[in-house]
Amino acid sequence: MIICKDEKSIKNQLKLIDLGSEIGFVPTMGAIHKGHISLIEKAKAENSLVVSSLFVNPTQFNDQNDFLNYPKTIENDIFLLEKAGCDILFLPSVTVMYPEGLTNLETINYRYLDTVLEGKYRPGHFQGVGTIVYRLLSLISPQKLYLGKKDYQQCLIIKEMIRLKNLKVSTILCETIREDNGLAISSRNVRLCEQSRQKASAIYQMMQYCKASLISGKIETQLDFPIQQLQQIGFKIDYFEVVNVNTLKPIINWDGKEPIMVILAVFLDGVRLIDNLLM
Ligand code: PAF
Repeated sequence: MIICKDEKSIKNQLKLIDLGSEIGFVPTMGAIHKGHISLIEKAKAENSLVVSSLFVNPTQFNDQNDFLNYPKTIENDIFLLEKAGCDILFLPSVTVMYPEGLTNLETINYRYLDTVLEGKYRPGHFQGVGTIVYRLLSLISPQKLYLGKKDYQQCLIIKEMIRLKNLKVSTILCETIREDNGLAISSRNVRLCEQSRQKASAIYQMMQYCKASLISGKIETQLDFPIQQLQQIGFKIDYFEVVNVNTLKPIINWDGKEPIMVILAVFLDGVRLIDNLLM
């Protein structure tokens, strides 16, 4: 695996590849886990070249402590990415990604999409995500971009940014990888103790409960039971909602046909976990 750390070296490296090669790109913030590896493997199977990036993007953290505590395991990440078949790793610094500094950045108009759900609890987060992914795509120009559905709202934001910026890249949304107990694999899981990891299985159980039990009609009251269950176990809930899969608009009265998903963010022992499930 070739490692490039600045704009010139990644561009030169990409110039060397055969015309007609298809680049599959997997952006990451490191703390590589099975979810990332599944994206690399899918990209490997579908492209002649796999490029990944590892950059803990400061502008997408609304909470400075979260940024400072974000797990950093670079040596192990490099080992795992190479083992999974990544061909080129882009490992830039903040100055490489933000040559003009971190302030006065362009704001992208996502209409309401960056201010609901995650956007409501993490103001500015999706602006930071859109900005950095735009910069990465501009430098790497992949044919395909691989994203995990665990961060479903992020997937929609990035798709919208790609549409607004008129970029020629297909977005491949990949299934969430889960622990045996259903907990969605995330870099933040390393902060959970063993007991909390076991407790966290309730998230998936309650989403499955919704999948099995939601019926047409008023949705809010149907969410009382799963929300109460999670609260009793010790979860603090930021949101637990049923939304339209394409627009993320909340479903008040479900006609039984509109495509919906449960989407949530909860805290367990101070660790914020997000997840979603298509109904
Ligand atoms: O999902 C992530 O790891 C990040 O939000 C991303 C897409 C790499 C942008 O920094």
